[in-house]
Amino acid sequence: MRRLLALTAAAFISLPLTPAAAQDGTPGAPGAGDPYFPGQGNGGYDTGHYDLALDYEPTSGRLTGVTRISARATQALSSFNLDLVSTLSVRSVTVNGRAAAFAQSGSELVVTPARSLPSGRDFSVVVRYDGRPVHVVDPDGSVDGWIKTSDGVYNANEPQGAMTWYPGNHHMTDKATYRFTVTVPSTRVAVANGDLLAKVSKGGRTTYVWDSREPMASYLATVSIGKFELADSQLGGYRVITAVDPKLAGDATGFPERHAPVLDYFSSIFGPYPYSSTGGIVDHAPEVGYALETQTRPIYPRVPSESLLAHELAHQWFGNSVTPTLWRDIWLNEGFATYSQWLWLDKIGTRTLQDSFDAAYAPAAEDEFWQTPPADPGGPENLFHDPVYDRGAMTLHVLRREVGDAAFFAILRAWASDYKYGNADTAALIALSERVSGKQLDALFEAWLFKPGKPTL
Ligand code: TRP
Ligand code: ZN
Repeated sequence: MRRLLALTAAAFISLPLTPAAAQDGTPGAPGAGDPYFPGQGNGGYDTGHYDLALDYEPTSGRLTGVTRISARATQALSSFNLDLVSTLSVRSVTVNGRAAAFAQSGSELVVTPARSLPSGRDFSVVVRYDGRPVHVVDPDGSVDGWIKTSDGVYNANEPQGAMTWYPGNHHMTDKATYRFTVTVPSTRVAVANGDLLAKVSKGGRTTYVWDSREPMASYLATVSIGKFELADSQLGGYRVITAVDPKLAGDATGFPERHAPVLDYFSSIFGPYPYSSTGGIVDHAPEVGYALETQTRPIYPRVPSESLLAHELAHQWFGNSVTPTLWRDIWLNEGFATYSQWLWLDKIGTRTLQDSFDAAYAPAAEDEFWQTPPADPGGPENLFHDPVYDRGAMTLHVLRREVGDAAFFAILRAWASDYKYGNADTAALIALSERVSGKQLDALFEAWLFKPGKPTL
């Protein structure tokens, strides 16, 4: 409609040289081009910062939100999309302070600004919305997003839950900094990523302000709510912020103190811890079953074992700071975190690295386990299948044997520093490994990452 009008106007004043589309821009793509989740993310702009104001009432499950996004157009835009499920109702949208037209369908919020946005232009979007968030069920059957618990919310968003509670560009290639201002009844605590800046109580409600200064992919954001015991202390050189469900307080004794030794060890082999604070959220959520490496502050459905703690903390380097470019490359997260877990268990004397490798390698060649190559798991239903974790970790062990310890740890450090706060794919890891080691490694990676079947040693 807009385009037609523009054409008519152009014809009338006889200026046919500039096509209307170039003047007015075109709609941004409704997806980021990831084959596993085609509607996830959007094209035509890049976000820089999210300022989320959330007000949540756990009893009714009602959320009222204001999302402010700073972004830059990467093409001339007549309209652009944000990802948000339609069960939440958008009340208003402004772009650069002016009311914008909007429409919701499926998990897309289409925003048409009063004036189109030239390529390269910085712009701000404010979305006001409310409703009762519900989690989504992933292709593998697990729950994801705003997951209600008996006393609040277990908020884990990998791979697609972010759209269940705030509008954004929800593909991992568009990282941004965040500010969270969350208001809950004073009987509850709201925990998010990064540093706690303020906690203010008034009239039976408490507002928590959290600041996430380092860029973050939206699947790693969390706003978890519950009757938590919150602790914020300086321990071993880290700001450790923990939230523990009182039901688990006994088992969680010493939980804050467990972080520094693991982070010190990983820093010594991967390079400096990339965030300004750490910690974890220990919720009583037996119905969820999985933990998530939410940035700076993983969320656990129970008190984590040493192995799980190491896994989620290793993700802070591998997954969170260095993030894949497509979901298909998820082994770069899970294989690295699993290998790191093996390293930590070896370090503390629980199980040798070789025993971990041997146990993972044990399945017979005919076993289903060997049919899924980790770097090509076949679809979103296999994202978190065992081969992605264990065969991914075995790949790193075999690489280490092939290039030697010095080159192997140089590769890990370079991976963490070259792609810090960014994205990288499997091809980049192979290229880096060959560059650092000076070896031709195609056959090794082909056998371990891409071909079905049990590789020989
Ligand atoms: N990334 C998580 C971890 O390894 C795992 C995870 C996220 C997961 N979503 C999931 C596992 C869904 C099973 C199902 O710590
Ligand atoms: Zn993991």
